[in-house]
Amino acid sequence: MSPRPAVRCRPSRWWSWAAGSGGGLGPVAVQLLWDAAAMDLNRQFAMPQGLGGRFVGRVMAVINRSQVRHVVGELAAVGDEHVLEIGFGPGVGLVALARSAPRIRVAGVDPSAQMVVAARRRTRSFGDRVSVREGTAAALDWADGTLDAVLATNSVQLWQPRVESLAEVLRVLRPGGRLVLGVLDRAVLPDGGSAGRQFDLSLLPDVRAAGFAGVEAAWRPSAGGGRELVVRAVRPSG
Ligand SMILES: C[S@@+](CC[C@H](N)C(=O)[O-])C[C@H]1O[C@@H](n2cnc3c(N)ncnc32)[C@H](O)[C@@H]1O
Repeated sequence: MSPRPAVRCRPSRWWSWAAGSGGGLGPVAVQLLWDAAAMDLNRQFAMPQGLGGRFVGRVMAVINRSQVRHVVGELAAVGDEHVLEIGFGPGVGLVALARSAPRIRVAGVDPSAQMVVAARRRTRSFGDRVSVREGTAAALDWADGTLDAVLATNSVQLWQPRVESLAEVLRVLRPGGRLVLGVLDRAVLPDGGSAGRQFDLSLLPDVRAAGFAGVEAAWRPSAGGGRELVVRAVRPSG
């Protein structure tokens, strides 16, 4: 009996076929496929959906964790404050907020049904101290002046239209209420690009245009080797 041929996966052969040396797709087609995959992944970070969204949610929960916790620390919630997180993704920030002060109430809004499910699962041990719902920053389902603070990490760069969304945040904050925004330089933009290291130049004028006062911004190194921007602002009291 002749021995069975070994079945082996040889990535180098696949790659050379795909790249064209075996009469395959050709380098341009491979580049296009690569770009399409990267674009799809970026779309998932911007709006996680389906199976890919579940995967991306798990990735974000790991790679953004230390930045998200840092931004929650910057917010410094106290007492029985009512805090809203916008664009919570997998819900790491909601958990960090709920743990940051034992009596605060945490609300969350995110347009991704997939992330709402993931965040509900992640926060269920907090009972009704944490509540999440589907929605966008452009239309917040809270009455005027009812929230003490609003937080968003790697989400404000996706808000459309941005100034109007920030004005909506201002509306739901009480006078003197705080806004804290965190954005990694690699955070994905609606067009698939990334925020970059000068994102403050476009964001800060929008925060001021929306009516916020005391606008401050600082860059610092982030855990993954990049940079993270933190913006703080308040709703004027007068
Ligand atoms: C890159 S993820 C960031 C998730 C999480 N905050 C973090 O830092 O790991 C962006 C999140 O913002 C949400 N998002 C996208 N557009 C939004 C909008 N217009 N308003 C509020 N959230 C939005 C997405 O669904 C997604 O969950």
